Amino acid sequence: MITIIGAGKVGGDAALFSALRNLDDQILLLDIVKGLPQGEAMDINHALSEQGIDVEIKGSNDYSDMKGSNIVVVVAGLGRKPGMTRMDLLQKNAGIVKSVVENIKKYADDSIIIPVTNPLDPMTYICYKVSGFERNRVFGMGGMLDLSRFKQFIHEATGHSRHSIRALVIGEHGENMLPLPRFSSVSGIPLTSLLSKEKIDELVQNTRQVAAKVIELKGATVHAPGNGISTIIDSVVNGKMQVLPIATYLDGEYGYSDVTIGVPAVIGKNGVEKIIELDLNDEEKEIFNKGIESVKNAISCIQI
Ligand code: 2OP
Repeated sequence: MITIIGAGKVGGDAALFSALRNLDDQILLLDIVKGLPQGEAMDINHALSEQGIDVEIKGSNDYSDMKGSNIVVVVAGLGRKPGMTRMDLLQKNAGIVKSVVENIKKYADDSIIIPVTNPLDPMTYICYKVSGFERNRVFGMGGMLDLSRFKQFIHEATGHSRHSIRALVIGEHGENMLPLPRFSSVSGIPLTSLLSKEKIDELVQNTRQVAAKVIELKGATVHAPGNGISTIIDSVVNGKMQVLPIATYLDGEYGYSDVTIGVPAVIGKNGVEKIIELDLNDEEKEIFNKGIESVKNAISCIQI
């Protein structure tokens, strides 16, 4: 069973995308708000019924219903509002996520936890520390979102099919995110040989800023996160061993320890099967390091 804690727009969308991809025959939406997960479950079940997809969505306010889950997605907490950075949510969401993880420990001790709540990197740290799970079983979804946006900008700039586009974004899921044009391509043709440096710089900047734009226009980002979550779950449940950017606890990789941040990793049945260490150049390292400093600073401000 897949459990999604937080049945707001992103949680509901993650359930829908996961059901459309047939990632499990049971998906549980959990939320403390009475009626919300139940209503969301009914609505999604109606859509699945018409499509003939035999995935049952259940809504509940009772944590004990997650017993037996092999994957638990944590979306609970406040969302980013217009004018806010992700870090502005730190203190409030830290308390919420901590109590959610206590419940995961109690009822789904064998699960893989995928944190999504912002600020993503510090929340992943909390999930890892509070759960006490092995580090391969706790990894956050942030870079997948940033990558989706980078891909769209590459598609718009080159006019090439989305199908041919590969893109990678690592680092902090926040102000210091690190889109990597050197590791992005159209069917293997490096982006750096397809577009000018000025154009690439513009795409990188747009990738960093576009979530704030979406939030300003429609109040929240919903479909890109819902899809990103389901792509990660797909790689786990089907043992796909895809290389995806996820936020994970570093233990010496990239020269850092005791911090969580976005890096490329092989994702399979055990969660993080392997962390991939890229040979970053000086410019890339500088931004990655700034992200590390920002996350370390956030971690030092929360009680775990
Ligand atoms: C996003 O990037 C707000 O972190 C969220 O869509």
